[in-house]
Amino acid sequence: MEHHIVIAMDGTSASGKSTNAKLIARSLGYVYVDTGAMYRTLAWYCLKKKVDVDDHKAVASLCRRWKTELKCIEGELRHVRLLVDDYYPEKEVRTAETSAAVAAVAAVPKVRDWMKKAQRQCIQFGNLVMEGRDIGTNIFPETDFKFYLDANLAERTARRQAEGVDENLAARDERDSQRAAAPLMIPLGAVMVNNSGQTAEQTSGYILGIVRQRLKEREDARLVAQQKPRW
Ligand code: DC
Repeated sequence: MEHHIVIAMDGTSASGKSTNAKLIARSLGYVYVDTGAMYRTLAWYCLKKKVDVDDHKAVASLCRRWKTELKCIEGELRHVRLLVDDYYPEKEVRTAETSAAVAAVAAVPKVRDWMKKAQRQCIQFGNLVMEGRDIGTNIFPETDFKFYLDANLAERTARRQAEGVDENLAARDERDSQRAAAPLMIPLGAVMVNNSGQTAEQTSGYILGIVRQRLKEREDARLVAQQKPRW
């Protein structure tokens, strides 16, 4: 990733990662990557292929064999899609059934290895805003742009209910934080963003301010380094 920038957006479920990551990606013209959707895609595929998501070996074996492709969709929001057998299961990955299955799939170490490789490959598409649970800790730990989002549980639950999804977020966060393989953690050096009571415009505006400041500092440092006399 020498020439590309990765903005890592980690955090709890329904903490506003997607909404803010999309706003930031649009604003900067970066490519948005929803890594949760990639885990959801595998969970959906397991259900479709009648693979028991609690059987780690069977899930890992399916993950080794599935035929996938990463595609960058250009447009107003540039974003990456994971296709399986040439199909993009956009709606299917958001059902209650898939949501209930995904934490088990995401806890399988071999699955996480596969996802890490695929997620790092996304850099081929350009500068990224990548959201997930382990982006700043595990996928792109080398990035200087790390954010950790959270909001109080009542507000996060209300946000999901407004989307028509009724689920136990505390239980899912607990599973995501307690698993052995790449658990949900606050990345070292991340900016903490508790957005309880904030609008998405306020949160994304705050994050964009920090990103733009850091980009400017980088550019200034680069220009100074260029001006140094060589002897
Ligand atoms: O963000 P989401 O709700 O779509 O994520 C779906 C699940 O995938 C969630 O239980 C956590 C898991 N996940 C993960 O373990 N690591 C990621 N980088 C992204 C999601």
